[in-house]
Amino acid sequence: MKPSRWIAAGLVAVATAAALNAVPATAGRPYDPTAQSLRALAQRHGLYVGTAVDMAALDNAAEPRYRELVGSEFSTVTAENVMKWESLEPTRGTYDWGPADELVAFARQHHQRVRGHVLVWHNQLPAWLTSGVEDGSIDTAELRRILRDHITAVVRHFKGRIWQWDVVNEAVSDPWDTPSTLHYKGFWAEHLGPGYIADAFRWARAADPNALLFYNDYNIEAFGSGNPADDKTQFVYEMARDLRARGVPIDGVGSQGHLGTQYGNYDTLQVAAALRKFAGLGLATAFTEVDVRSQLTAGVRAGDSAEINPRLQASAANFSTLLRACLAERHCLSFTLWGFTDKHSWVPGAFSDPPEGLATVYDENYQPKRSYQELKADLIFAGPPFVRPRVPQQPRR
Ligand code: G3I
Repeated sequence: MKPSRWIAAGLVAVATAAALNAVPATAGRPYDPTAQSLRALAQRHGLYVGTAVDMAALDNAAEPRYRELVGSEFSTVTAENVMKWESLEPTRGTYDWGPADELVAFARQHHQRVRGHVLVWHNQLPAWLTSGVEDGSIDTAELRRILRDHITAVVRHFKGRIWQWDVVNEAVSDPWDTPSTLHYKGFWAEHLGPGYIADAFRWARAADPNALLFYNDYNIEAFGSGNPADDKTQFVYEMARDLRARGVPIDGVGSQGHLGTQYGNYDTLQVAAALRKFAGLGLATAFTEVDVRSQLTAGVRAGDSAEINPRLQASAANFSTLLRACLAERHCLSFTLWGFTDKHSWVPGAFSDPPEGLATVYDENYQPKRSYQELKADLIFAGPPFVRPRVPQQPRR
């Protein structure tokens, strides 16, 4: 290349580096990344940070802080419950779009993306469906038509407004189920066989050509034995691989990330390796329901800091492990919390004996916890411009 070209290229490189390293500073005050929201800090990496939204809390005028934080801290939202079958189609063929449309409108107002949750799951199904199958008034052929019609109606209704759909949720058993060998579980597999999974993705794609179609499950953060008989991550990996090989339109795998401090922690590298392995199938990934619960021992409930602090620290480490793994793997598109405040978390209701809680990143009074600060630190120190070359230490003589 001519010398003048080298000089020009050099000047461009310098200008580009300067632009990348430039940090927005408001007039007179140095830029403070710790004052930024999770969504702003994540945006630097093209990452969407989200939360599941409890619509009752969002609409509660007595709790404006809930609504403020959903809008300011997050760039993607998920309906915690109002897009589930029991909510959307409480009566066969009659849809109640209201609460879900309200969330979609809120997201639009706040320039947020929406994760649709969930088209097919064995929980929170309407009584007309489950009792119809149970009493035989809905046979297999009709059940498959009902599933197709529900997916088609829902995906068409939200067409163009859903970024990622959780098309199928929790279709795979756990090692503690019976039989212990991993298998397809739940209402849909029992009545339609595992073929419903490919059907669901094809029907969803036919209704929306652009939404990203995800399989979503828990306990798939890292690979274990590699044997799909007892390693759920391996089972899901092989299922996704086979679906892709058959041309089924699956675009991503959602790892829910429901963790507990009593179970210890993964390490970032093994979680990043799992994400990378799914990416190797041409799939996007996402953490879709992250929370980290702790046992509310008598000491914790009594306010004993010797019992509380280790759990807050362990919780922060668990959140951080998942976020850093997501940052490390460029196909990890979003990191969604399953609720952001202990005031509105599913955990205490689901784990009451023995009691568990403290699962989110804000406390009951909407004060950010150590885990919130850890997520922020990970986002700030994850790359340029806030991580600069080391300052060489000159040995004192
Ligand atoms: O809507 C009824 C209300 O009319 C009734 O008065 C009240 C009395 O119990 O129940 C209300 O339904 C509750 C529903 O949430 C809506 O609030 C159910 O009892 C309650 O069991 C249900 O819990 C949800 C749970 O899924 C159901 O399995 C949680 O809020 C929700 O956070 C949780 O989310 C799931 C994801 O969808 C999938 N991954 C696991 C995750 C945790 O279970």
